[in-house]
Amino acid sequence: MTHNDRPHGYDFGLPPDPVSQDSAVQPDRGSRLTAGQDAGATAAAQGAGDTPLGRKLVEENQRRRRLEHVQLQRPERTRVITVSNQKGGVGKTSTAVNLAVGLAKQGLNVLVVDNDPQGNASTALGVPHSSEVDGVYDVLVDEMELAQVVAPSPESDRIVVAPATIDLAGAEIELVSMVAREQRLSRALDQYAKAREEQGLERLDYVFIDCPPSLGLLTINAFVAASEVLIPIQCEYYALEGLSQLLRSIEMIQKHLNPDLVVSTILMTMYDGRTNLSSQVADEVRSHFPEQVLETMIPRSVRISEAPSYQQSVLNYDPQSTGALSYLEAAAEIAARGVPKSK
Ligand SMILES: Nc1ncnc2c1ncn2[C@@H]1O[C@H](COP(=O)(O)OP(=O)(O)O)[C@@H](O)[C@H]1O
Ligand SMILES: [Mg+2]
Repeated sequence: MTHNDRPHGYDFGLPPDPVSQDSAVQPDRGSRLTAGQDAGATAAAQGAGDTPLGRKLVEENQRRRRLEHVQLQRPERTRVITVSNQKGGVGKTSTAVNLAVGLAKQGLNVLVVDNDPQGNASTALGVPHSSEVDGVYDVLVDEMELAQVVAPSPESDRIVVAPATIDLAGAEIELVSMVAREQRLSRALDQYAKAREEQGLERLDYVFIDCPPSLGLLTINAFVAASEVLIPIQCEYYALEGLSQLLRSIEMIQKHLNPDLVVSTILMTMYDGRTNLSSQVADEVRSHFPEQVLETMIPRSVRISEAPSYQQSVLNYDPQSTGALSYLEAAAEIAARGVPKSK
């Protein structure tokens, strides 16, 4: 089965006909064909399916059709997923943000905890995070309730975000001397679940914790608060470098702080089907982690990288793009696979 040949279809409200879609055609080269015109006309003129362009359109059309039929189930319990990799720039934030929006668009209730002082997830989800705003710092260091800091995201009325302000950088040091320094986020999440119940709000289905590129106390808090780890891996030469250190850290957490934690999901990001390197890296990661690696891979896509500067997820910025389609598929796959049974 190729990564595009999936058994499930999921309805995310995407229009069915990609022939009229610009960035579905060449998202990676930044050539923005005029929607509904050039791409469709070119494909029609050349006979869809007979050319690389036509084949790509047909294939994406099939993928969208498959996404139309399956409804995502609510998980039995809230799934708290930490998105982590101590390498920077591998797609952690893009993954946390776009999966969250993909699931919310399907009617699931999602919290995104921006646990990186850079605040990129807050930016991408359109949530204020200047230093005056209360955020994750206040929760971790001053024991403020999450309910007091979460903000709605314009992306979807089913997403709330705990924003990261720049003070969060200091929390890494300030936490060192604090009581229960590793459990603070976990406790805050438990408390927030109760607060939602008391307020008559629906239970959260998913929590995504976007981590900084380090293995300090912020990331440890995220590992302790989560039941699952999602590791995005960039399809580049050094992809596996550092992974064993990350896995060792997770083992330490399992042993000492959170025995229930599992690495449930590995997502290959920035995949470029035109290079041998990308597919070699993907194959190698799959051979090491056959259970964890999603069938879906996220392609290298200009639309994904442009979206945050418009304070949007790619799903809202360019819903027809290959990047949006792939993140919807990844969200659906994660929901369909459910909670892993054991480590
Ligand atoms: N699939 C992709 N294709 C192209 N650019 C991407 C993709 N995923 C992420 N990016 C870009 O790469 C950079 C790093 O991604 P980001 O999600 O911020 O990674 P991290 O959180 O691991 O540092 C950002 O500029 C982002 O917009
Ligand atoms: Mg990030």
